Amino acid sequence: MIQVITPTARNIGALFVNRHCVSSTSLCRGLATLEYNTHDLHDDDSHRNHNTTANQHCAHSLLILGKPGGGKGTISGKILADFPQFRHVSTGDELRQHVRKQTQLGMEAKRFMDEGCLVPDNIMIRMVMGDAVEAIKNGQSLLLDGFPRTMEQAVALDKSLDVDMVINLCIPNETIIERISDRWIHPASGRVYNYSYRPPKVVGKDDETGEPLVQREDDKPENVMKRLQKYEQATAPLVKYYEEKGVIQTFSGTMSDVIYPEVKKWLDNQLAEDAAATV
Ligand code: AP5
Ligand code: MG
Repeated sequence: MIQVITPTARNIGALFVNRHCVSSTSLCRGLATLEYNTHDLHDDDSHRNHNTTANQHCAHSLLILGKPGGGKGTISGKILADFPQFRHVSTGDELRQHVRKQTQLGMEAKRFMDEGCLVPDNIMIRMVMGDAVEAIKNGQSLLLDGFPRTMEQAVALDKSLDVDMVINLCIPNETIIERISDRWIHPASGRVYNYSYRPPKVVGKDDETGEPLVQREDDKPENVMKRLQKYEQATAPLVKYYEEKGVIQTFSGTMSDVIYPEVKKWLDNQLAEDAAATV
């Protein structure tokens, strides 16, 4: 279980020291040597409370940016089906798991989430960095869905790994509002349904477990508007940030099924270019 602790310069810094990028390609950033101390991050992982050195290959780090309800989860699911090498980290799904299990982090985060506000950066950075460091240690590729969402989070991520591909989903607000009001989820798994797009086999029941579907608290219309505003203030500036790094591709439209083939084509090209460059 991850404990909520206010980060200090010392413990955040300890996570990111000694990182060396040796690849010359723009995509795959090669070896990352991490020396970090997890002492302050875990309250029940006592076996990790010592300095650990990992020297592993982080194949790719892919981000998916977009408005709330803009199809990040839907597109991520399609990416994972075609590119199973990616480990999906959805901050929204992880937070909802914490809320359901009533962890300290979940209880802290819930009040922000229910009101359509962003969860404070210190909590989010701590939560995601645990996963990111774990994935890097295992040489896995990462698909980050919903992180970073502020400039502070983006800067923290940059200290840990090189983001090499960013998908920006650009969907009109009217489409989002329509979709979200029709979204139902299976809270235990995070499976998402939509009666006009991906209906469950039985009305109101999860396809796999038969358990009841619920609507998310933050999908109430007043909270959706607040989330869209927060997106414009806090997250939209990240598009420019990644444009300046030359790693972002924007996909516009109203239909995930139409957008996805373009995403796939782009990803195939990026991965093929990278493979060619590393031969
Ligand atoms: P999170 O769960 O990430 O919410 P979000 O960004 O608001 O995005 P959603 O998950 O609501 O939508 P999505 O883009 O995944 O779209 P989906 O595929 O479901 O985060 C929740 C909260 O956690 C935040 O508000 C915040 O409080 C907190 N949080 C998370 N990360 C944070 C961070 N880094 N920093 C601070 N706080 C953080 O699609 C939407 C709907 O459209 C679905 O119903 C889907 O079925 C439907 N749909 C998709 N495609 C189509 C189509 N072609 N036609 C019709 N319907 C479609
Ligand atoms: Mg989502």
